[in-house]
Amino acid sequence: KVLILDFGGQYNQLIARRVREQQVYCEIKPYNISLEEIENFNPSAIILSGGPSSVYKEDAPKCTREVFSGKWPVLGICYGMQLMVQELGGEVKRANHREYGTISMNILDHGGLFQGLGEKTEVLMSHSDYVSIAPTNFIVTANSENTPVAAIENHKEKLYGIQFHPEVIHTVEGKEIIGNFLFNICGLSKDWTMESFIERTVEDIKKQIGDKKAVCGLSGGVDSAVAALLVHRAIGDNLTCIFVDHGLLRKNEAEEVMEAFEGKLGLKVVKIDAKDEFLSKLKGITDPEQKRKIIGNEFVRIFEREAVKYGNGEFLVQGTLYPDVVESGTDTATTIKTHHNVGGLPEDMKFELCEPLRNLFKDEVREVGLKLGLPEHLVWRQPFPGPGLGIRIMGEVTEEKLEILRNADAIVREEIINYDKERKVWQFFAVLPGTYSVGVMGDDRTYSQVVAVRAVGSEDGMTATWSRLPYELLDKISKRIVNEVDGVNRVVYDITSKPPGTIEWE
Ligand code: XMP
Repeated sequence: KVLILDFGGQYNQLIARRVREQQVYCEIKPYNISLEEIENFNPSAIILSGGPSSVYKEDAPKCTREVFSGKWPVLGICYGMQLMVQELGGEVKRANHREYGTISMNILDHGGLFQGLGEKTEVLMSHSDYVSIAPTNFIVTANSENTPVAAIENHKEKLYGIQFHPEVIHTVEGKEIIGNFLFNICGLSKDWTMESFIERTVEDIKKQIGDKKAVCGLSGGVDSAVAALLVHRAIGDNLTCIFVDHGLLRKNEAEEVMEAFEGKLGLKVVKIDAKDEFLSKLKGITDPEQKRKIIGNEFVRIFEREAVKYGNGEFLVQGTLYPDVVESGTDTATTIKTHHNVGGLPEDMKFELCEPLRNLFKDEVREVGLKLGLPEHLVWRQPFPGPGLGIRIMGEVTEEKLEILRNADAIVREEIINYDKERKVWQFFAVLPGTYSVGVMGDDRTYSQVVAVRAVGSEDGMTATWSRLPYELLDKISKRIVNEVDGVNRVVYDITSKPPGTIEWE
């Protein structure tokens, strides 16, 4: 397995994903873990990430020098390379111009990282410092117009450094370069497969939970579903899944979730019908933040009450993923966020946590889901916010508005799923802005609700671009909504990206 030391670069999780994609297990740890911790982890190779600092600054983050002792093969990326250079007696300087973008790099040596590549390759550079002198015993294996030392290699000690970012897609042969390091240089084998993950994890869960009871909050989303399936494999019917229907779900969603999970996948699921509780708490509330708070609190209250009934207060299964673990666990990244698990369950809940997915990325979770028999449409389900339709209805939430939104949303989803076979559109739904407009239908004047259609492309929801859907598709959606949904006479399309907008309207 590979250890990735995190110096705070923005692409660090991508490095881990690129390594995992090549079926090699890796974990990200803070740069300053001790030598002992590294030895305990027992890596076959170490990758040093990029980062925002300058190695010649006084408080520059540094890992233990033993990393460069030749004990492990090391690949330093960007800041990681510069640190290696500085620690081994080379020279790093501030560049006159910050270099950012894809450039054509010249490969000078094909004996190490660049085996099988041509004379030139496109790479992404993003740095304000550069290596001016490589340490002794290193050869310079690549350069470019502005970067005299773009890659260095010391085959004897197995130390490698690259100025560019092989983990991003803009570096066209990034996969090959990382692959050369993992397989040709370090001699690692491809043994990280989802089959082996499932086998190991099921054993671990058996050990952790034994013959005690566990509960899992099922949302219908892929994470909680896969976590539940894994735990179910380990402890069978001692797991109870709790699905809270807060009445803010999409059309037929509660029925579909129950149907998908109850019979076919063997899970024991109890549905808690809490529609009336939620709606009465939301009565008269128009402020978005207040709505979110009420829905969140109510969810926790109901879940706590029910979980204790079924779980004996023993284990709580959660679908926490690796990105959440990494982001709350390192103090280096400039993008630190505190993550709240879905539903925001309280920390003082008297359960021990079981989080079988805490080492997985989303794409790995999907693969595990498929292997465990989760149907494709659930594996690829688009994200749906915890507060549900409650934050897609502007103003007060009422049963009448919910009905209109559910029907309009069902049309939007049906048409876009039909059109978008390759799943290019990341999330798509209808919104009820709470605006009324005048229209004409037949010979009559109408005065009814406006429906907004939202469709965006995104990787992770942090940024998003509004989808350029074909006019014909938008036309069909618009006609269907106005014809089929009572109470709507106008449809608009949201052409705001994120930023400056958010994906949801509230
Ligand atoms: P925004 O609106 O912040 O949404 O651009 C980004 C992504 O997060 C989803 N979202 C939520 N998911 N609980 C969730 O589990 C929430 O309270 C919540 N609010 C927004 C949203 O659907 C989008 O995918």
